[in-house]
Formats: sequence, structure tokens, C-alpha cells
Amino acid sequence: MTASLATVSYIGATILFILSLGGLANPETARRGNLFGIIGMAIAVLATLLGPRVSPAGYGWIVGALVVGGSIGLFAAKKVQMTQMPELVALMHSLVGLAACLVGFASYIDTSTVFPTEAEKSIHEVEIYIGILIGAVTFSGSIIAFGKLSGKIGGKPLMLPGRHWLNLLGLLVVIWFGREFLHAHSIQAGMTPLIVMTVVALLFGVHMVMAIGGADMPVVVSMLNSYSGWAAAATGFMLSNDLLIVVGALVGSSGAILSLIMCRAMNRNFISVIAGGFGTGGGTPAAAAGGAQPAGEVAPIAAAETAELLREAKNVIIVPGYGMAVAQAQHTVYEITKLLREKGVNVRFGIHPVAGRMPGHMNVLLAEAKVPYDIVLEMDEINEDFPKTDVTMVIGANDIVNPAAQDDPTSPIAGMPVLEVWKSKTSIVMKRSMASGYAGVDNPLFYKDNNRMLFGDAKKMLDEVLAALRA
Ligand code: TAP
Repeated sequence: MTASLATVSYIGATILFILSLGGLANPETARRGNLFGIIGMAIAVLATLLGPRVSPAGYGWIVGALVVGGSIGLFAAKKVQMTQMPELVALMHSLVGLAACLVGFASYIDTSTVFPTEAEKSIHEVEIYIGILIGAVTFSGSIIAFGKLSGKIGGKPLMLPGRHWLNLLGLLVVIWFGREFLHAHSIQAGMTPLIVMTVVALLFGVHMVMAIGGADMPVVVSMLNSYSGWAAAATGFMLSNDLLIVVGALVGSSGAILSLIMCRAMNRNFISVIAGGFGTGGGTPAAAAGGAQPAGEVAPIAAAETAELLREAKNVIIVPGYGMAVAQAQHTVYEITKLLREKGVNVRFGIHPVAGRMPGHMNVLLAEAKVPYDIVLEMDEINEDFPKTDVTMVIGANDIVNPAAQDDPTSPIAGMPVLEVWKSKTSIVMKRSMASGYAGVDNPLFYKDNNRMLFGDAKKMLDEVLAALRA
């Protein structure tokens, strides 16, 4: 393939990636968006393989790597449960960071490229230094995020004394050794500052994510998504690959926009979240999952009574959360919705921006179960309707319906906008126990007079409700 054909293919792939991102913005066009992405990636890989920069002598290695990487990806995608998806995504981000580091070190020790001027050599070294810096932060930060999302590391933020000073010190060390690196006269001499910076960047990544409280993890997930894009763009600079630069910038900027949207949804300041310490807010530290103390009496309800309330209702709102994903209850939710709508009940869904464990988690599950898009509403669109609602069914959600976010300024989730389900005539919370949610805080909703608790696995309880509705 000639260089100009490779460039045209790269432009085609870039357009397809942009169309893919546009398609993914809406559930109705998401499938098409995915298809554009797949075609774009296939073109990108083929144009790179057949392009002028890859010699056919290397095909064996490339095909070997594709087979190994592709098999691992296929195995992971088949084996991983929907509820483990966020952890998988965090692991994938870590691989992008690791790749940027490895490419950076390889580019540095590669002596085959001859730079015509000293300035071009310096620019290449700056690319390497920044690429490894972003890659190392992404790598270690994503590993910690993986640990936190999978529950292997506690959600409680690590508050080291003088943590902001530590971060600042790390930044100064990185700048100092950057200067040393650029002034090194040999590869051996440049290696020491490069390794020192990599270690500092790895420690910074660990510290940054460890300092973030449980409820703010969504921002971290999208932020690391953005970092992985910048790491890919940096790799593109190191390899002089235009497509990688463009694609990295697309992922980096869309991840950054998503992080800002997340921050707005959580009513958090972006800089404060990155600096760490949110999620404690100076109030009660988040307890370990299930560690919150009960604060009153709760009124349990049975599945048959729930069905009775639903049958008599005119307006019903369903609020799904992480527990619906765990129980895989979305198909039963759809059956109940269909039945109630056939009986003339106005059923709608209220989706919190950080419900579940990844952006759009609930929308994906409901779309999979074929719930019509027009009855799935965002928090802002539905929050005013709770006072006019007869029954609100909360399915495996907890933090996103916690009134303490509004009423208790000392709560770790204070200030986070929530779905005001307690304003409806009756709310029914479906969960297995009194355990707390991801943020580890007790939920006063459970003890309200107009709230009922339907204890049990969401799928099992909804099956019983459906059977009672059909009876
Ligand atoms: P959570 O607050 O985590 O609450 C989920 C509830 O589901 C738990 O209290 C649990 O109670 C219940 N549950 C678990 N398995 C269940 C099952 N099989 N059947 C019925 N109930 C079950 O979830 P949420 O309300 O969706 O809020 C999301 C939280 O995750 C927020 O704090 C958010 O910040 C955080 N987070 C979100 C993201 C993104 S991007 N969405 C990423 C990381 C973290 P039991 O154990 O008693 O059943």
C-alpha cells in the first residue's frame, strides 16, 4: 500500500470513529455507532499493517500478537459478567497506560531513527517524557480503580497528611528530572531521570485514586478513560502515527467532557475531586459496605402487597440501581412494565447519572430488555414528578435515592443530586438487606413512614410480583 493510500485510509477511519462517537450518544443509534467503530478499527489496523512503515518481515510477530491479544479479549468479553464490566474497563485503561510506557522506553533506546537537527531530537525526547508520564499515571491509577471497583481495595479514601504538598513535590521532581533527561548526553545517562520520573508518576497515580472517596469513583472512571486517550495520543506522537494521535485525542477529549458532566451530576468540583479527599467532606467517613448503623424501624412489605399497590396506581416510577444489574432483573422489570402499561398505568423510569457502576449502566440494561426509550427519563426530567406519583419502585438502588444528600451536610454524599423518591405517595425499596450502597452510608429513606422494604433478591422478588400481577 502506498503512503498516500494509507493516509486516505486513516482519514476514512478517523471519520468513522467520529461517526461512532456520535452514534454512541443515543441508545437508538448506539448499535450503528458500534458498527462504525468496528469498521473504522478494521481499516486502521489493515492500513497500518499494509502501509509503508511496516516491513513484511514483521508480519509474523504482528499476527502472533493479534492472535494472543484477540484471544484474551474474546475470552474476557465472554466470561465477564455485566456487573464486572467497569472493572474490565479499568483494566483495559491500565493496558493503554502500560503500552504508552513501553513504547516510550522502546523509542528512547531505539537508535535506528536519525534526527536531522538537535531540535527535532529534543522534541522527540519531550514526547517520550510526557508519554511515559501520562502512561504511568494511567497505568497505576487504573489498577487501583480496578481494585476499588471490584471491592479488593476498600472504598474509604486514603488521607495522607499533607497530601497536596506531596502531589506538589511529585510535580517538582518530575519537572526537575525532565530537565536532567533533556540535558543527558547519552541514553545511559538519560535512563536514570526517566526511571525516577516513571516511579514518581506511578506513585502519583496510586495516590490520586486512593484519595478519592467511594461516591466519587464515577468521576475517576471517566477521568482515567480520558487519560488513556491522552496516553494513546502520546504514543501516536512517539511513533509518528497520525491516526493514533487523532483517535487518542478523540478519546481524551470525550473522556474529559464526560468527567465534567459526571462532576456536574454529582455537584462536585472537578479539581477538588482530582486532588482527592471528596467523599469524606470533613463529615463522617464512609463506613465499609454494610457497616452503616440502622437508624429506626422499617416497614417490610410482601410481593403480593406490592403487586396490589401497583395494580391500583395510576402513576408509577421505577428507579433502577446497581442491584438490578447484580440480580439481572431487567427482563422481569420489562415484563412488569408491559403488563402495567396494558392495564393503563403510566409507568416511567428515573435514571440517575451515576446509577450502577459505569456511565449509562442502567440505560444499557433497560435497552437490552427492550424497554421503550421514551419512558426512560433522566433525573432532571423526572425529579419534579415524584409528588404526583402513586408508587415508586426502587430496584437495587441506594445512594442515588438517599435523602441525606440533601438533608445532612455532614454526610459523605452531601450535595450530590438524588432522585427524590420519598416525595411520592408510597416508595418501595427492593434489596436483600439493610446493607449500605457503594458510598457506605446509611439511608434515611428506608425509615420514612411512606416507605416499604421488599427484602430479597431483586429478580426473585420481581418474579413474585409479576406472578401476583398475572394472577
Ligand atoms: P448502590 O448505592 O451501590 O446500592 C446498590 C444496592 O443494591 C445495595 O444497597 C444492595 O443492597 C442492593 N443489591 C445488591 N445486589 C442486589 C440484588 N441481587 N437484589 C437486590 N438488591 C441488591 O447503587 P446505586 O444506588 O445504583 O448508586 C451507585 C453508586 O455507585 C453511587 O455511590 C455511585 O457514586 C457509585 N459508582 C458509580 C459509578 C458509575 S459511573 N455509575 C462508578 C463507580 C461507583 P443489599 O446488599 O441489601 O441487597
